[in-house]
Amino acid sequence: MPLSLSTLIACVLGVATLVSSSPTTPVHGIAPVSLPQEAFSPLIPQKILATANTLRSPAQYPQFTDRVSGTWQWFSPDTWTTGFFPTTLYALHTRSQLCPGSVGDTDWLALARRWSAAEIPLETKTGVGHDVGFLSFPFSEELLVNPNNATAIMAVNNFAKALAARFNPTVGCTRSWDASDPTDFQVIIDNMMNLEVLFRSADLTGNDALRQIAISHARKTTVNHLRPDGSSFHVVDYNSTTGKVFRQRTSQGFADSSTWTRGQAWGIYGFANMHRNTGMPEFLQTARHMASFFLDHIPANGIVPWDFNAPLNPPRPADTSASMIAATGLILLAQEELKQKPENTTGAAVYIQAAADLFKKTTDLAWNPSWQSLLSNGTVNNPAQNNLTGIVYGDYYYIRTANELVAMGLASC
Ligand SMILES: *[C@@H]1O[C@H](CO)[C@@H](O)[C@H](O)[C@H]1NC(C)=O
Ligand SMILES: *[C@@H]1O[C@H](CO)[C@@H](O)[C@H](O)[C@H]1NC(C)=O
Ligand SMILES: *[C@@H]1O[C@H](CO)[C@@H](O)[C@H](O)[C@H]1NC(C)=O
Ligand SMILES: *[C@@H]1O[C@H](CO)[C@@H](O)[C@H](O)[C@H]1NC(C)=O
Ligand SMILES: *[C@@H]1O[C@H](CO)[C@@H](O)[C@H](O)[C@H]1NC(C)=O
Repeated sequence: MPLSLSTLIACVLGVATLVSSSPTTPVHGIAPVSLPQEAFSPLIPQKILATANTLRSPAQYPQFTDRVSGTWQWFSPDTWTTGFFPTTLYALHTRSQLCPGSVGDTDWLALARRWSAAEIPLETKTGVGHDVGFLSFPFSEELLVNPNNATAIMAVNNFAKALAARFNPTVGCTRSWDASDPTDFQVIIDNMMNLEVLFRSADLTGNDALRQIAISHARKTTVNHLRPDGSSFHVVDYNSTTGKVFRQRTSQGFADSSTWTRGQAWGIYGFANMHRNTGMPEFLQTARHMASFFLDHIPANGIVPWDFNAPLNPPRPADTSASMIAATGLILLAQEELKQKPENTTGAAVYIQAAADLFKKTTDLAWNPSWQSLLSNGTVNNPAQNNLTGIVYGDYYYIRTANELVAMGLASC
C-alpha cells in the first residue's frame, strides 16, 4: 500500500517529537522523565475503541468494572462519572496530535462528540447536584477544539448556572450533597473539581459572579476542609442558616480523622486549578500544602492505599484512581510553579518526578492487559465494599498524565 501524505507527515512529526523530547534535553531546566512503555501501548486505543463501539441506545456509560474479569459496569447518563468516558475520547484525540500514529486511524473526535450527546439533556435536569462540573468536562474539551460549537457553549453555561444555583452566601460555598434536613449544608472536598465549570462559563459570558463563587468556595474549603498538616476531611457540614461548621467527617474514607486519598488528590488538582484560573497565591499555597501531605504519606512501596490511615491488616486495597488524579494534579501544580517569576524550577521538578513515580508504580501494580479497563486496583468506595476494580476516571487520568508530560516536552511517546 502506498504511503499517504498524512502518514508521511505523521512519521516526520513522530521523529521530531522523539528528538525534541529526547531524555537528555532539559526543558525549563527540568530533566525529562522516562515513562514505562505501557504509557503509549497500542492496548490503550484498542481497549477504548472496543468500549466506544458498544454505545447503547438509550445511552449508558462505563463507570467501574467487576473485580473478577474486569468487565465494565454500565450506568445511566445521570451519574456523576459519565463525563469521563467522552473526555477520555477527547484525550485520545489530543494524543493523536501529540504522538502521531500512536492511537491508530480512528476519528477520536467524532467518537467523543457522539458519546457526549446523551449528556446534553442533563443540562436542564439532573440528580447529580454539584457534579454538573464533572459532567461539563467533555463540553469544555469540545470548546478547545471548536470554540464556536453552540451546543457545547450552551452546555457549559447551563451546567455552571446549575452549580451557581447551589451557592449559599451565608455559608460561602456551593452545596455538594442534598440532605433531608435542608439546614444541613454538606460540602465534600471533591467539589473543588466542579469549580472549573464556573470559570469556563465566566470566560464565555463575562459573568464575574461565577468566578467570585468559585473563589469563595475554595477559600472556605481551605479553612474548613484542611487540617493544619495539609491533610483533608472528606465532608464538612455547615449550618445553612448560621453559616457555621457543625461537623467535619468522612463518608468514603476510613474514619472522620483519616485522609481518604482520592479526596486529597481532588484537592491537589482543584487548588492547582484555582491558581491556574485566578493567579491568587493563596491557592498555590494550599495546593502545595495538600501535595506535600500526599507525597509524605505514600508508603515505601509506592502504592497509594485507598485511605492513608486504613489499617494494614487485612492488607488494605490500593486506589489507583487516587494515584492518577494526584499525578495529574502534581503536573498542574508544576505548571503553576513554572509561571512564577522567576520560574520555580526546583519546585516544578519535584512535582514532575513525583508524578512520573506515581505513574510507574501504578503501572507496575495495576496495568492489566486482560481487563476492559486499562488499570485494575481501583477503590470506588471501600465502606460500600467496592474495591479491586477498574475505574473510568483512573484510566482517564492515566492517559492525561502521559499526555501532559509529552505536551510539556518532558516525556517522549
Ligand atoms: C458540538 O458539540 C456537541 C457536544 O459536545 C457534539 O455532540 C456535536 O457533534 C458538536 N457539533 C459539531 C458540529 O461539531
Ligand atoms: C442550624 O441552626 C438553626 C438556628 O440555630 C437551627 O434551628 C437548626 O437546627 C440548625 N441545623 C442543624 C442541622 O444543626
Ligand atoms: C491488586 O489487585 C490484585 C487483583 O485484584 C490483588 O490480588 C492485589 O491484592 C491488589 N493489590 C493491592 C495493593 O490492592
Ligand atoms: C518552589 O516550590 C516549592 C514546592 O512547592 C516550594 O516549597 C518553594 O517555596 C517554591 N519556591 C519559591 C521561590 O516560590
Ligand atoms: C474490599 O471489598 C470486599 C468486598 O467486596 C470487602 O469484603 C473487604 O472488606 C474490602 N477490603 C478491605 C480491606 O476493606
